Amino acid sequence: MADKSNSLYQQHYQQASTTPEAFWQQQAAALSWYKTPNAVLTQQDEDHYQWFSDGVLNTAYLALDHHIEQGRGEQAALIYDSPVTGDKQRFSYRELRDAVAQFAGVLKALGVQKGDRVVIYMPMIPQAAIAMLAVARLGAVHSVVFGGFSAHELALRIDDAQPKVVVSASCGIEVNKLIAYKPLLDDAISKATHKPDYCVIYQRPQLQADMQTGRDLDWQQAVAKAESAACVPVKATDPLYILYTSGTTGKPKGVVRDNGGHAVALNYSMQAVYNAKAGDVFWAASDVGWVVGHSYIVYGPLIAGCTSILYEGKPVFTPDAGAFWRVCAEYGVNILFAAPTAFRAIRKEDPHAALQHYDLSQLRSIFMAGERLDPATYQWVVEKLHKPVIDHWWQTETGWPIAANPTGLTQFSAKPGSSCMPVPGFNVQILNESGKILRPNEQGYIALKLPLPPGCLTTIWGNDERFVDGYLRSFSGYYASGDGGYIDEDGYLFVMGRTDDVINVAGHRLSTGEMEQIVAGHPAIAECCVIGIPEPVKGQQPLALVLIKNGVEVDETILQAELVAMVRQEIGALACFKQAIIVQRLPKTRSGKILRKLLRQIADGSKYSVPSTIDDPASLPEIATLMAARGLISAP
Ligand code: COA
Ligand code: AMP
Repeated sequence: MADKSNSLYQQHYQQASTTPEAFWQQQAAALSWYKTPNAVLTQQDEDHYQWFSDGVLNTAYLALDHHIEQGRGEQAALIYDSPVTGDKQRFSYRELRDAVAQFAGVLKALGVQKGDRVVIYMPMIPQAAIAMLAVARLGAVHSVVFGGFSAHELALRIDDAQPKVVVSASCGIEVNKLIAYKPLLDDAISKATHKPDYCVIYQRPQLQADMQTGRDLDWQQAVAKAESAACVPVKATDPLYILYTSGTTGKPKGVVRDNGGHAVALNYSMQAVYNAKAGDVFWAASDVGWVVGHSYIVYGPLIAGCTSILYEGKPVFTPDAGAFWRVCAEYGVNILFAAPTAFRAIRKEDPHAALQHYDLSQLRSIFMAGERLDPATYQWVVEKLHKPVIDHWWQTETGWPIAANPTGLTQFSAKPGSSCMPVPGFNVQILNESGKILRPNEQGYIALKLPLPPGCLTTIWGNDERFVDGYLRSFSGYYASGDGGYIDEDGYLFVMGRTDDVINVAGHRLSTGEMEQIVAGHPAIAECCVIGIPEPVKGQQPLALVLIKNGVEVDETILQAELVAMVRQEIGALACFKQAIIVQRLPKTRSGKILRKLLRQIADGSKYSVPSTIDDPASLPEIATLMAARGLISAP
């Protein structure tokens, strides 16, 4: 194991803890600001901090123009690889900057100014990244909505962000099927109370979208007529983007990211965590709709001067389980970042990694996040690739890794199941219910001592109360991560899973509370509970336990099909909601609260103790028997 006490990691960790202002000022100096900040950390009140409050910059300038000025204009900035269409495209920094400036001109002509919101609902095509950077270039605020979300989810986000313009495409392409985006967008706008002034639609050759006269513009035609727009300087504390994520209620939370702290933190993480340098090829196999896509497909690699890969495909079936290795070999990928579920899918299709016959000599390390890297998947990837495999833990809220093996500082030996050490800047503690710090190996709530380092959320869009109540009130002086776990005697962090009603399906974060609201809307259902249950490839899948209203007769198979259709319609296919079981009663406390934790424990086969406050203990074996009859758990 690397010597923790005397390492570069330890130096950074100590400096970031004891003299955070000096440490982060030094990191900020690595960027090209319009006005370098003097005020590094400002506390506004008990709950709010600002980083670099008097700094002025433009994030798109840092990501593009700056590199051209440094002589990297002809280096590849973005490589688009789309096995679902056969397209491949390379953008140099200069080409990408020009495309971004031109599209910024389109938005500017439509009236988009500093601070205005633009919703981006796009598949994984270069225009998604171009739109994000164009919004940033104008000092406006983007909100990217994952293309797999339904019209209802898109409408919620449109109403919350109130965009002046929505940018979308005619279609997305999934394995063997086209997803028409425009009808979903039209439906979302008709459902939403807020109406954007304009929609800019990128027409893909696979499908022509119908356009609404007056409101809809064709991307290509608009770009041809546009004048390119210059970078607009913004304050470090001005918002760069809003990214909605699932909380415990049906309403998604708009995580707000600032410009300055974000740029500093991502640039630091590219070196300290990923050991990536300008010119390296960085591939985050995610989607721009998720935080991984924001931080490590678009902003992080570009700010660091890397070449970023934008991949429109899956790890399997596009065309086969060798897809990841093909992309790594073809572009000389140095750093690969993906979700464990992707590797579980590859292992399932190609258990002996027979398709791994590509030249992976350029690949230095594989990072995984989005869900816990289970030891079996870790071992399989290490065995097949003989490369460092690094689990690292983070969230939409933090925007960059909280814990990792910081390969750019000191490489620690890995412990399977652990996301390694806290990244410098994060003070990670394990607390009990009452906020007391627990001893090594004791499991509890994972909390981050305030202030959070640069780059983390500053608030929830339009709802600061939700930010304060949701994250800062559980443990005084800490940010509550919503995850549980422990730190072992060597300081390694083990993140074991959520302590709330958020589940993780194929690396996608979903709210069971939201699914419950939808399921409860079925006319036959009196009450329900949705929990996450283990799934071998996707990690978890949702399961609804439903109570039928007295006197109502329903067939379980028909009811399940109706519920599946409702969840697909309201959230999207990505929820992977496929199972509903009719139960006679749900385990509750005497005060009527459903004991969800107990149900989760039954589902994942862990030991549980029946609390004395339970109203109806017989409900537990009944439910376990029903789950076993479905083959979801082994017989109790
Ligand atoms: N647009 C429209 N629909 C989408 C979509 C998108 N962007 N992404 C997923 N869907 C749909 C799929 O078509 C599928 O629909 P279906 O039920 O009609 O078949 C459904 O949502 C579930 O999709 P998915 O979870 O992707 O399952 P899959 O079986 O197609 O693929 C994996 C399984 C593991 C290969 C895939 O989930 C995967 O690559 N996961 C990695 C996710 C990831 O990178 N997350 C990053 C977070 S860091
Ligand atoms: P998201 O905000 O979508 O990135 O999801 C964040 C959540 O995913 C975290 O709160 C964790 O529950 C889970 N997660 C992400 N990375 C890891 C990891 N490396 N280990 C364990 N859980 C993880």
